[in-house]
Amino acid sequence: MFISFEGIDGSGKSTQARLLADALRAEGHDVVLTREPGGSDGAEAIRRLLVEGGTDRWSAETEILLFNAARRDHLERTIMPALKAGKTVVSDRFADSTRVYQGATRGDLTETVEALHQLMIGIEPDRTFVIDIEPRIGLGRGVARGGAEDRFESMGLGFQETLRTGFAALAHADPTRVRLIDGSGTAEEVASRVRATL
Ligand code: TYD
Repeated sequence: MFISFEGIDGSGKSTQARLLADALRAEGHDVVLTREPGGSDGAEAIRRLLVEGGTDRWSAETEILLFNAARRDHLERTIMPALKAGKTVVSDRFADSTRVYQGATRGDLTETVEALHQLMIGIEPDRTFVIDIEPRIGLGRGVARGGAEDRFESMGLGFQETLRTGFAALAHADPTRVRLIDGSGTAEEVASRVRATL
């Protein structure tokens, strides 16, 4: 299976991706835990261009191309080889992040995002878990963590509210694949919700 985790900044999805990978490994599955942007050498190099620097470093269109370039490398070098070898892939973010961060926040680019996805990527995860939390809580966690990777977090609370609505809309549009998970409570509580849903 190919499983992705999604959510706004500071939602706790990275912790959940790791906890699910650990749980599946403990049951004997061969699991590849990976992330976007990144997950392969080339994509990690592109990641640095995307997550560091000022909010106006790239136009929205250039940003979409960079995310797709990173994703294509990740797909070719990491995801497809693992799936072909019969492994389970758990990815911290995938194409829904581009649909929401670059598409839903700029309504006029929704079709561009989808067209590029169909042209260059063309696959969806089998299941996607959106860890849903209050943007105020998510931003608080991001600030507490610090570091240089704050390009999207620095776009503010209104931006995070739009993202949350965008992820909820994806879950509504494709309820078989995309599941909203209540992200409140302890990491263990959220992990058991993910497990029950899976
Ligand atoms: P990520 O490493 O998941 O950050 P965090 O763990 O803080 O959530 O992602 C880095 C940033 O890149 C994050 O703010 C979301 C953004 N992003 C997009 O805008 N589009 C995309 O397609 C992806 C994969 C990420």
